[in-house]
Amino acid sequence: MELKELKQAFLEAYGKESEAVYFAPGRVNLIGEHTDYNGGHVFPCALSFGTYMLLAKNDMHVMRFKSLNMPQIIELSFDKLTTPLPDNSWVNYPLGCIAQYIKRGFKPVDGYDMLIWGNVPAGAGLSSSAALEVVTACAFNDIFGAGYDKTELAKIGQLSEHEFALVNCGIMDQFASAQGKKDHAIYLNCDTLEFELVPVKLDGVKVVISNTHSPHKLDSGAYNDRVAQCKKALEELRSVRPQLKNLAELSEAEFEQIKGAIKDPIALRRAEHVVGECQRTVDAVEALKKGDITLFGKLMCASHVSLRDNYEVTGLHLDTLAEEAWKIDGVIGSRMTGGGFGGCTVSLVKDEAIPAFIEKVGEAYHAKTGIKADFYIAEISDGVHRVE
Ligand code: GLA
Repeated sequence: MELKELKQAFLEAYGKESEAVYFAPGRVNLIGEHTDYNGGHVFPCALSFGTYMLLAKNDMHVMRFKSLNMPQIIELSFDKLTTPLPDNSWVNYPLGCIAQYIKRGFKPVDGYDMLIWGNVPAGAGLSSSAALEVVTACAFNDIFGAGYDKTELAKIGQLSEHEFALVNCGIMDQFASAQGKKDHAIYLNCDTLEFELVPVKLDGVKVVISNTHSPHKLDSGAYNDRVAQCKKALEELRSVRPQLKNLAELSEAEFEQIKGAIKDPIALRRAEHVVGECQRTVDAVEALKKGDITLFGKLMCASHVSLRDNYEVTGLHLDTLAEEAWKIDGVIGSRMTGGGFGGCTVSLVKDEAIPAFIEKVGEAYHAKTGIKADFYIAEISDGVHRVE
């Protein structure tokens, strides 16, 4: 949808013009999966897909939320802004962010009418919910005059996800949506939140996203289970290393020495993944900086294998897309991206191989699953901003 159409939709919903427009992007993670809540590194980039929020003041002392994908306007009085709505309402994502401001002592003076529209493919695991959180956090940063930086906006989004969507996610998605930069990936240390923007304009190679169209369900509990299993592994390791702050602190060699302390075999496999993935992420970014894209691609494939065998978050759909991609000449690397359990893969593909990649992977995927995959060439874009 064009901005003009969104403004028209605002006018139709609320009978007046919008006063401000904000945009926050979705993200694709190149490597570093399920490392963020373990204090490791991640390497995501913001996409051109994302979520728009149009707003205008009202004089009714209420917050009104309208999504273009939903029929009704949801209206909440000021005393209802810190309580999640029942039945996993979509409003909990923006509401949870407004609630964070109120908890920090900011008091709404005026009511606002909001219209939300996003073009992140639904259920694709490209962080449409983080985009919605971050766009809200940014708009209300201006409304409340809070003056928070983009990292703080990401933290507000993450807290909203924890407290209102009940997913114990790490910081990666909201951070990428907030701090993204055109043609760069974000090399983020999730423990310290220090980050570096690394150029990913690759010569003759594109980042291709393949959508399984098999819905990923973050709130299904499987994600929170993984978080809990990592915590368990960490606690068991503390019996031999009391000072251990998080799994990412361990080198692979150190982990080998003490991993016997993890008695639960599932927790052990999860920790194997995390420790290996943290190392792969550091190695991959180093390789990219040196121009060694081949090594970067190999590490992407190894990441997928570990997510499949140790972390068990892939499944038939993601495995088929990745494994079919590995067979194609000109594919430098391919892996699942995001939380897993459906969603998308991310691949580095040489320009001349892209048509064959789409055709062959698409056909093999359809033959195996009966589903038509979709392919997008990623446009790496800027993080959250006010559009006008
Ligand atoms: C989801 C979460 C992130 C991160 C990824 C896995 O996208 O929201 O915090 O844990 O899964 O890397």
